[in-house]
Amino acid sequence: MKNYSLQLRIWHWLHAVTVLGLLGTFFLRKTFLSWRANAEILTAKLADFDIVVTAKQAAALAKAVRAPMWEWHIILGFVFAALVLWRLVMIVREGFGCEAETTHMQWVCRGYKVLYAVLTFMAVSGIVIYLYQDIGLAKETAGEIKELHEIMAWGVVAFTVLHIVGVFVADNRDQKGIISKMVSG
Ligand code: HEM
Ligand code: HEM
Repeated sequence: MKNYSLQLRIWHWLHAVTVLGLLGTFFLRKTFLSWRANAEILTAKLADFDIVVTAKQAAALAKAVRAPMWEWHIILGFVFAALVLWRLVMIVREGFGCEAETTHMQWVCRGYKVLYAVLTFMAVSGIVIYLYQDIGLAKETAGEIKELHEIMAWGVVAFTVLHIVGVFVADNRDQKGIISKMVSG
């Protein structure tokens, strides 16, 4: 089993926490802080107080409640972009460093390469949609990029689930201690 450099280990855990945080903001946006669901709750509750709001007003209220949470998507997004850049610099300087002694590991290494391409796309597309007005991009173009950003986000979700299950299984089978190696080298 290979040894992970201190730099890779620090990078891995900072990156894992950041990605889990980003996925958390995605989860909240689709569930507890969904503007559609909350607009309905707000409309119903305000009606109890004899306050009638239009659908547009209810949506504005629900989005205002969601906004402070989503700020974390942007904060974590910039941290994530910096971490992706850090890893790309490491790869350029030191090489990819994935050892593929078996066919299985060859696929794992290929998987990481595809993942790094996806992560780079997420970082670039995220920053582009965030700054679309400043860089003079049309709203429609930014909307199309956002759709791709969202589709690729599902890829990150899939990788994260497979990855955590995968290392857990590997640690219990032929690569005992692989998880603690990512901690202690
Ligand atoms: C929280 C639970 C996690 C555990 C226990 C874990 C554990 C590990 C382990 C043991 C490895 C080495 C596997 C190998 O050599 O093939 C690894 C590699 C990797 N992990 Fe995780 N990981 C976790 C979360 C994440 C998350 C959320 C991400 C974000 C997408 C991530 C991204 C990566 C990447 C990119 C590598 C390859 C590093 C490289 O060699 O270039 N991990 N992880
Ligand atoms: C692994 C990394 C990332 C994941 C999984 C992710 C996930 C998502 C998802 C799923 C959406 C669509 C939300 C929806 O409309 O329901 C989204 C939107 C967005 N993301 Fe990311 N993102 C990531 C990285 C970034 C980065 C690096 C930035 C920039 C700093 C960023 C900025 C944005 C912005 C500005 C939006 C549009 C929000 C809006 O229209 O209100 N994201 N992201």
